Amino acid sequence: MKDLSRPAARQIKVLIVDDERLVAETLGDLLRGEGYETVIAVSGVQALDLAARERPSVVLLDVRLPDLDGFEVCRRIKNDPETQFLPVILVTGLSGAEQRVKGAEAGADDFITKPPDEQELLTRVKSLARIHDLHTELVSSNEQLKLLVEERSRQLEEATRELQKLLNEGTYFGPGLVPRQEPAEPRLPQRPAAGVESAPSEGDLKARREFRHTLLSRLSETMEGRADLTRTPETVSLLSQRLAAIYDASGLRLTGEARQQLFREILDDILGYGPIEPLLADPAVTEIMVNGPTRVFVERKGRLSKTEIQFDDDDHVLRVIDRIIRPLGRRVDRRSPMVDARLPDGSRVNVIIAPCAIDGPTITIRKFGERLRMPDLINYGALTQETSTWLEACVRSRVSILVAGGTGTGKTTFLNALSAFIPEDERIVTIEDSAELQLHQEHVVRTEARPPDVDVSGEVTIRQLVRNALRMRPDRIVVGEVRGGEALDMLQAMNTGHAGSLTTIHANSPRDSIARLETLVLMAGFDLPMKAIRGQIVSALNLIVQQARLRDGSRKVISITEVQGMEGDVVVLSDIFAFKEEGMEQGRVVGVLAPTGLRPKFEHKLELAGFSLPSTIYLPPQRQAQDRLRRGRAP
Ligand SMILES: Nc1ncnc2c1ncn2[C@@H]1O[C@H](COP(=O)(O)OP(=O)(O)OP(=O)(O)O)[C@@H](O)[C@H]1O
Ligand SMILES: [Mg+2]
Repeated sequence: MKDLSRPAARQIKVLIVDDERLVAETLGDLLRGEGYETVIAVSGVQALDLAARERPSVVLLDVRLPDLDGFEVCRRIKNDPETQFLPVILVTGLSGAEQRVKGAEAGADDFITKPPDEQELLTRVKSLARIHDLHTELVSSNEQLKLLVEERSRQLEEATRELQKLLNEGTYFGPGLVPRQEPAEPRLPQRPAAGVESAPSEGDLKARREFRHTLLSRLSETMEGRADLTRTPETVSLLSQRLAAIYDASGLRLTGEARQQLFREILDDILGYGPIEPLLADPAVTEIMVNGPTRVFVERKGRLSKTEIQFDDDDHVLRVIDRIIRPLGRRVDRRSPMVDARLPDGSRVNVIIAPCAIDGPTITIRKFGERLRMPDLINYGALTQETSTWLEACVRSRVSILVAGGTGTGKTTFLNALSAFIPEDERIVTIEDSAELQLHQEHVVRTEARPPDVDVSGEVTIRQLVRNALRMRPDRIVVGEVRGGEALDMLQAMNTGHAGSLTTIHANSPRDSIARLETLVLMAGFDLPMKAIRGQIVSALNLIVQQARLRDGSRKVISITEVQGMEGDVVVLSDIFAFKEEGMEQGRVVGVLAPTGLRPKFEHKLELAGFSLPSTIYLPPQRQAQDRLRRGRAP
């Protein structure tokens, strides 16, 4: 709040009107001494001119003036809309009762007798100036209010015009939107939430689509071509306001929920990823699969299910694809119909469209979330605590491990969980196609391959990154997945000072992993004899952790296999742990990942690293029970 009780210097301007300049000057000196600004007029005409031009806060007006008298000057000031609120203090003669009456008739605000008493003069000027200032403030805020009201009415008019246009086009209300029999509460057909069984009728969906589409395009037109809008509280609020105006003016009344859903859908189309936006926001959904506009699947808790979510048509899916890849400078068209991308939150996206996708544009999203850690995997029954402890000893002892499995079996997740066992004091370099690993050690350098630009230049491959990593003095190299010639470089790294490096491979069994590694090594382009390749594999690699998705949808470690060596031309593999299935219970596979009884040949490596694990760790469950009995302990 402004302090108006004391005048600030040059803040309050007083117009002093007196035919005797000396008198005016004396009063001026007095007021200036108190911090006021002053202007002097010696005639009535001059007074009127200065009152209009100088915008004073108060006028001290002598009655006797050479041209117009004080009453006339006062009257004119009060009659002029420009100055009508300017306070006038009339300076009257000692016996001026009659003058005061005339002054009051002319509109004077106050009187003071001549010669004025200093204190009285200051008090009067101060109080009137204060009233004047308050008044000025009021006027200015009124002015702002007026502008605001004008702006709102303009928006309303615009919205009404929009609506009129829509109504004229006759496309606004689709069939079934405003049932004639129920004029009180027309309902828009509702799109059911994901997972709801009852499907809406085709007519309902069409009507909803048309309605939404029309609103959407009207709204887009008012966005001055800004297609790059991002979801900030400001844009959401701005668009909601515009949408609300268009909607309100429509006269259509939906139930609160239907209206909100409609708004949400439109905002999702403009600011987000359209119909799949709610799935992206749902933490329970781990994967989203759009197979053309009408078949959208999700994975929740490892189980696939179809949702009721639908896109309007192929173009609608393509628009969402465009929103995903455009910010990355990528593009997808008939000539390059496939693209890998990532959402800003790190979620992995693959897109494939016509002519290669036959049933419509297809989007696959592996959502990014906090990666499951080893305790979570144990909790989920993917492996046992004992196996995890043993694997920890292996990782810390620099046993080189390959995590194998089919698509989406949890390879990357397991690699990530294993990497957490790498000691803090080691330098780790990670290499990935698209960064998915979340290592919590401090000394980690993360690198990522780069696809070629549109002009096919600028590609950086995993292989180049592996080679480069070797020059970065790593203690361990963690490669997201080997799928090309980098397999050879990786094996060589494991053989030459970077033992304990970790990677994954797409393979359905340990034996399959070896075969695939052989193929990948050949892809490196060296004409190596198969025996030499196998020799490399066997000496580099110690363990294969096999992941699988069981028929109940659960992801588990189904074997941990040692790569023992060569017998003739054959690579010898031996399971140290294997998953034993014991049947099904309530749709779930029951079983346990148990030791097979075989001890790994690299056991000495663990001992050298200081791990003296009890030998019972390798005993199969039955033998462990016998062992406990023999030692006299309860099972
Ligand atoms: N043991 C598990 N239990 C439950 N969910 C798991 C388990 N392991 C992984 N997941 C989940 O399964 C999904 C796929 O996991 P991940 O990305 O690790 O698989 P992947 O084999 O690397 O797949 P891709 O072959 O596509 O690279 C993720 O959402 C992950 O959180
Ligand atoms: Mg993976």
